[in-house]
Amino acid sequence: MVFNQKNIISIRDFSKNDINYILNLAEKMEPAAKSEKTLDSLSGKILGMLFYEPSTRTRLSFETAMKRLGGSVIGFAEAGVSSATKGENLADTVRMVGEYADALVIRHNMEGTARFAADIVDVPVINAGDGAGQHPTQTLLDLYTMKRIFGKIRGLNVALVGDLKYGRTVHSLAFALAMFNVKMSFVSPKELKMPRETLHDLSQEGVVAEETDEINEIINKVDILYVTRIQKERFPDPAEYSRIKGAYLIDSKLLEGNDVIVMHPLPRVDEISYDVDDTPYGKYFEQAFYGVPVRMALLKSLIKCK
Ligand code: NCD
Repeated sequence: MVFNQKNIISIRDFSKNDINYILNLAEKMEPAAKSEKTLDSLSGKILGMLFYEPSTRTRLSFETAMKRLGGSVIGFAEAGVSSATKGENLADTVRMVGEYADALVIRHNMEGTARFAADIVDVPVINAGDGAGQHPTQTLLDLYTMKRIFGKIRGLNVALVGDLKYGRTVHSLAFALAMFNVKMSFVSPKELKMPRETLHDLSQEGVVAEETDEINEIINKVDILYVTRIQKERFPDPAEYSRIKGAYLIDSKLLEGNDVIVMHPLPRVDEISYDVDDTPYGKYFEQAFYGVPVRMALLKSLIKCK
C-alpha cells in the first residue's frame, strides 16, 4: 500500500508515489466507470457532499464514482438549502455530516475551509475546491488525462493559460507538474499572473516558467494548452472583470498546424471556440469523463471497505 493520505486537501501533501498509485488504480476503475463492469466495494458506505459553491462536474462525478462503487451519497449542492440559512455555522454542519457519512467532500469559497473541516471530523475530508486555493482532485484527473493521451507525464511541455491569479485548478496543477519535471509556461493577462508567492514556492521546487501574455509566443512549442476560465466570481471589482474578460480565444484557426492538445477543467465561458470541440485538439470532454475513474480510485483508497 503506497497511498499515504487520510485527507485530500492540497496536492502538495501528495508524494509522487501517492499520485502514481491513484493514476494506476484509476485505470483499473475505467471499465466500471463506463458501466462495462459492476463493483460493490463501497456498498453500505455513504459519501457526504457539502457544496457551498456551484459545481457540475466535480459534484456529479463524485456522486457517480461513489455509486459506481456500490455506495450512496447525501448532502447539498448549495448552502441555501442547508441550515446555513438559519445561521448554523460551518463547523457544526461539518461535524454533523461527519457523523452521518464515511467521508466528506467539501467545496467552499474560502481558502482553507477543507483543512479546517478535516481538523474537526474523524472521517476523511476531500477538498473539492477552496476559493482560489487548491483543487487537488481536479489535478489528479488532469494528470490522468495527460497520461492517457501521451502515455507519460514526465517531459511534457505545458502552457497554463488564462486566469492564473484566481484559478485554483492551475495552482494545484503547477505543483503536481513540478513533481514530474514538466516544462511549464504561464500565459495570462498582466492583471491575472500567477501570484508571486506561488511563483516563489514553485521556484523552490525547481520550476523556471516562462511568463507571457501572448499565446502566439508559446503555441508552437507546447504539447498542451491548459486553458482556464476567468474567475468572474473572485474579482473584487466587476468593472475590472468586464475589462479583462475575453482576453483569449482559442479557436481552430489558432491551433491549425500545431502539434498540441487543448485541455480545460470546464466550465468554459468564451475562451474556447465551439469549433475546437470536435477536432483532435479538443480533449476537455474526455478529460471531464476521467473525473469518474480518478474519483473512484480516490474514494476506494480513502474509505475503509470490505
Ligand atoms: C473548476 C473549479 O471549480 O475550480 N471547475 C471544476 O471543478 N471543473 C474551474 C472553474 O470553475 O473555472
